[in-house]
This record gives sequence, C-alpha cells and structure tokens, in this order.
Amino acid sequence: MRTISNPPLPDGVAWTAVLVAAQRAAESLSAAPAFRDPLAEATVVHLGLAQPGETPRLHEMPREMAGLTRMMGDAVTLRTLHHDRLLTDLPVEQIVLLGAGLDGRAYRLPWAGRRVFELDRPAVLALKEDVARVAGLEPMAERTPVAIDLADDWPGALTTAGFDPARPTGWLAEGLTIYLNRAELDLMLRRIGELSAPGSHLGIEVATSLRAGLHDEEIANDGVDRVLSLFSSGPPIPPHDWLAGHGWRLAVHTLTELADQHGRQVPRWFDPSRGGATVWYFDCAR
Ligand SMILES: C[S@@+](CC[C@H](N)C(=O)[O-])C[C@H]1O[C@@H](n2cnc3c(N)ncnc32)[C@H](O)[C@@H]1O
Repeated sequence: MRTISNPPLPDGVAWTAVLVAAQRAAESLSAAPAFRDPLAEATVVHLGLAQPGETPRLHEMPREMAGLTRMMGDAVTLRTLHHDRLLTDLPVEQIVLLGAGLDGRAYRLPWAGRRVFELDRPAVLALKEDVARVAGLEPMAERTPVAIDLADDWPGALTTAGFDPARPTGWLAEGLTIYLNRAELDLMLRRIGELSAPGSHLGIEVATSLRAGLHDEEIANDGVDRVLSLFSSGPPIPPHDWLAGHGWRLAVHTLTELADQHGRQVPRWFDPSRGGATVWYFDCAR
C-alpha cells in the first residue's frame, strides 16, 4: 500500500509514535469507535498505511507493525480513554505531554482555552506538523510544540515557550517510561516536581518487564524484536515507592481494571493472569 511518494516511516523510538497512532486510527475508524482521532486517521493516510476514510488494515501494514498490533490488542484504546478523562477533568489551564509523539488530544478534545505543550524530538514534531497541515487540521487547544530531547534542558525550553510553573499543570507520560533508563527517569521526575505548583497532576504509565512472559514464537515476530530493542531499563518495579518518593500522592488502576470498565479484552501480553505483564496507570497528585 505504501509507495515511494509516501514519506519514509520514522526510525528508532520515533517509529513507536506511528505504531500507536495507527492503533488509534484503527479504533477511530472502527464500526463503533470509543473515540475519534482525526490526527491519527490523517497520519496513516499521510504515511500510506491506509486510504482516506478507510479503516487501516493493520494486518496489511508493514509486517512488524501488523504483528505488534495484534499483540497489543485494545491496550492503546484503553489508555487513551483513561487519560482523556483524567486530563479533561483536571481544573488546570496547562497540559504538558511528555514524549507527545502523534498524540492528537489538542486536535480532538474540547480543550479550548487550555495551553497544551507537546514535548518530543524535532523529527517527530515535524512529522506531526506535516500531517496536520496536509490534512488541514486545526487544534482546539492552544497547542505549543516544544522540540527537545528529554535528556536536554527541556524545562528551560518549556518555560521559554510560555509554560508557567506557578500554575497547576496536568502532565502526561503515556507510552514513555519503558524507553528511558532509571537515571533519565529520575531526572525527568525531579524536573516535573520542580515545575509542579500545588494542584498539579501527573498521569504516568508503567509496566513490569514486557520481555518476561513472552513466548518464543512471539519474540521471533519481527515487530516484537524491533520494539524490545528500543526498550530501556524503565522505572523501578513496583514503581509505587519511587513515585511517592518524588513527592506524589498516588491513585492507581491496572490495564485489567480499565478493560473491565470498558468491556474490552486485555491482550495476553499485558494480562498477568495469563503470564503477561502488569500495566499500571498512576494518577499522581500534589
Ligand atoms: C510509544 S511513543 C508514545 C507517543 C505518545 N505519548 C502516544 O501515546 O501516542 C513514545 C514517544 O516518546 C518519545 N521519546 C522517547 N524518548 C525520548 C526522549 N529522550 N526525548 C524526547 N522524546 C522521546 C518518542 O519520540 C515517541 O514519540
């Protein structure tokens, strides 16, 4: 389906932003979608992974995306629904998406009057600009991309972009912690803490080892090999004390709970009752 006129798929960890956007597009274009995500729909068309208005045929995608998509099941839909509600309900005027990738919330949620700062590497944010421009999408919130590497001085770039540390903030680290090592995560949490006025919240997703519990034939799947090679050590497991030690009060849900809430299946990869990983969604408050 992809042709040479389509832009290349990004490589490295940026490729995972496309992987999860494709899953949101599949949900968005399904018969009974739990949400619509115009940016995700436009992304798969822009990259030649689907025809306009057509449900992306995930099994026809580049082989590694197809295999991984099958294994991830409804996990991306469930976390999207969870964090949509968490962030929408917060009485805050500024949202910071860490490792924002192709997150389309600024384009699809009724966040008029809010500032949404999207932090990711320059190439990912440039792809997002291209997708939105070609599709003619306008954000509903006041969207500010901040092109950084999380290892750099991103607090400086964020405040220069207009972020106000004196006001409470809704932070989100969705699909991110597994790609960072412990030192990088400690630095990130310390910086978030320093920028968080009382009333701030942090939504953060953490999983136990995504390698353990995989069957040999699943690991042999090209896509799993590819994504495993991008994983870093992640946070300490279990992460509760680590998060609390950074000054947060915790509320937590598992992916299994979210699946029960929404009447969806937990894929085996993330189902501890079938030997899979535990995935936690923390709502951290201060
Ligand atoms: C799986 S994607 C998730 C994207 C988005 N949060 C979502 O759920 O759609 C991981 C994202 O983290 C970003 N990322 C990983 N390491 C990063 C770093 N050191 N600095 C900035 N962004 C990073 C990647 O570029 C990618 O967009």
